[in-house]
Amino acid sequence: MDTKSETQSLQERLEELRRELNYHNYRYHVLDDPVISDYEYDRMMAELREIEAQHPEWITPDSPTQRTGGQPASRFQKVRHPHAILSLANAFDADGVRAWFERIRRVDDRVEHTDYVVEPKIDGLTVVLHYQNGVFVQGATRGDGVIGEDITANLRTVKAVPLRIPADGKGTPPGYLVVRGEVYMTIENFEALNKRLMEAGEKTYLNPRNTAAGSLRQLDPTITASRPLDLFVYSIVAADVEVPDTQWERLAYLRKLGFPTPPAELCPDLEKAITTCNIWAEKRNEIPFEADGIVIKVNDMRLQADLGVVGKDPRGAIAYKFPAQEVTTQLLDIRVNVGRTGVLTPYAVLEPVEIGGVIVKQATLHNFDYIKGKDIRVGDRVMVKRAGDVIPYVIGPIEGARTGEEQVYTPPQVCPACATPVQNIPGEVYWYCVNAACPAQLVRNLEHFVSRGAMDIVGLGIRIVEQLVAEGMVHDVADLYYLKREDLLSLEGFAEKKADNILQSIENSRSRPLERVITALGIMGVGEVTASDLARHFPDLDALAAATSEQLQSIDGIGPNIAEAIVDWFQNPRNRQLLEKLKAAGVWPRAQNNDRKPVGDSLAGMTFVVTGTLPTFSREEAKAFIQAHGGKVTDSVSKKTSYLVRGENPGSKLQKAQDLGVPVLDEAGLRALAEGKR
Ligand code: IVH
Repeated sequence: MDTKSETQSLQERLEELRRELNYHNYRYHVLDDPVISDYEYDRMMAELREIEAQHPEWITPDSPTQRTGGQPASRFQKVRHPHAILSLANAFDADGVRAWFERIRRVDDRVEHTDYVVEPKIDGLTVVLHYQNGVFVQGATRGDGVIGEDITANLRTVKAVPLRIPADGKGTPPGYLVVRGEVYMTIENFEALNKRLMEAGEKTYLNPRNTAAGSLRQLDPTITASRPLDLFVYSIVAADVEVPDTQWERLAYLRKLGFPTPPAELCPDLEKAITTCNIWAEKRNEIPFEADGIVIKVNDMRLQADLGVVGKDPRGAIAYKFPAQEVTTQLLDIRVNVGRTGVLTPYAVLEPVEIGGVIVKQATLHNFDYIKGKDIRVGDRVMVKRAGDVIPYVIGPIEGARTGEEQVYTPPQVCPACATPVQNIPGEVYWYCVNAACPAQLVRNLEHFVSRGAMDIVGLGIRIVEQLVAEGMVHDVADLYYLKREDLLSLEGFAEKKADNILQSIENSRSRPLERVITALGIMGVGEVTASDLARHFPDLDALAAATSEQLQSIDGIGPNIAEAIVDWFQNPRNRQLLEKLKAAGVWPRAQNNDRKPVGDSLAGMTFVVTGTLPTFSREEAKAFIQAHGGKVTDSVSKKTSYLVRGENPGSKLQKAQDLGVPVLDEAGLRALAEGKR
């Protein structure tokens, strides 16, 4: 065989793979409409990596393999922007917007006849992306608007950033194009990331914006690569080709090149634009990312340019800010909650205050270092924020409002529930109560044990749990299975029916499957997902107890921290005793689906959400059925949901699916789809 042509065809294959991978990345991350499975994508990526391993000289920075992040930098280089990256003036209500209109009408009366584009004001980090001959060559932060920082390596790891344009490979790219956009994190991804960090015992983030900004400004791009960042591009900063002369058409042009653009509406006049803003403001908590307002832009870009700039703000656009979800109130007290694992978390008791239609009386203070770092004192007037579904938190004190009466807070030296001296791991932010018999921990443990995702003991609420602990009737979770009717009847507020119902619920829970029992044990870092992974690998709790850290780490998704936590848990003598008691009580499931192979892949690449009561499947069964056919099940409906499966009495998920145009199936439809009959 002629080696020259062999090399040539290998190089052609390499180019083809890069083209295909870029295209499918674009279908997935920008169009939200993949046409191949993740599996096929991974196979192509593996093939490309193999060729590049044979020919490292062929690796180019725009290769899809280079998204994973390169070498850490010691600092960021400075970059001068081709044009000033301007800011935006604000309006806080409809009259503010009308006043803006009056101001710009005096500058140029053509605005009387212009239309407007309305876009969300995305609360993320502004980025400027440079493309040369269609290749992503540089990305920068906004900086002071004139000079930013070079974060190219980090931006390459963001999947929504096209490495080549046009991303569909059709047509010729501009020789030079600079665009501006916002890197952000969806609220869902933010919450999932925080949950992951928390389960791994790491420090969590405050809000999606800080997380996105912090993730992008990491000197080590592999950290950026591990963060689920997203992008919206909304303007063209410079180009060497003619670009459309309205904002509306520019958005379409950007989309065609392969950039994700924000949701937008074209409004024929200002009043229509204001109405649109008001509608969006009302629905702001349904927007899947954080937005702090709406931007109203004069659609005619030539007119926008002619209107000029005041300071750093272009006259041709205005930010209509949403009403604040931040308010000030009095910090009445700082109290400490003892968690299931003994971790102590301080929280603020507030003078009740309304934020975004909800009365807030308590807010998180994260940890003791946070209180100290922000110098938050009892009696302070504090700024409190609530955003979307995020738990309200104290942003910080208003120092100017101090009277001198405020008290500096000293963290407790002993557990507030059991008075055992608290401990911390040097260098870590968290303090713990290490008393395994601490009643506060026991209450939290029981609460977790009986919860829906765990043993699901219906009717055993927090009040009863507290009573059982206070009366000394349970000393660990296994004691629930040894409760007698007389015990319950001796408690205040218990009549026969209530006692019998609870005993029946406890009885029913004896047959919960292995993954539920693993979840219920409350091992640090082991939530429902990890528990079901474990239940697939180990036939029962004896086998899990005998597993080594290495064996545990060989399971996908289990890292060294969680593996260690599991091993530690099973080594603890108290826990061993607890397991013996559970075994003696007959709570000792064997894996039902151990080694069960998926029955098919007809639902591969699809994501499902289930709502309402299905005629024959329980929730768990529906989930298992979908997973067995290669599909995924998630809790909330988004654009990425392939199907909503609905039963009787569906919840708000149905409305959401209809709003987003997500197709809806019933149980029969699901079965038909899995059997390939649809
Ligand atoms: S337009 C001349 N549109 O908000 C164009 N900005 O205070 C001016 N932002 O950091 C910007 N979403 O980067 C525009 N849809 C959007 C935006 C947006 C977020 C950011 C912008 C700037 C800040 C202005």
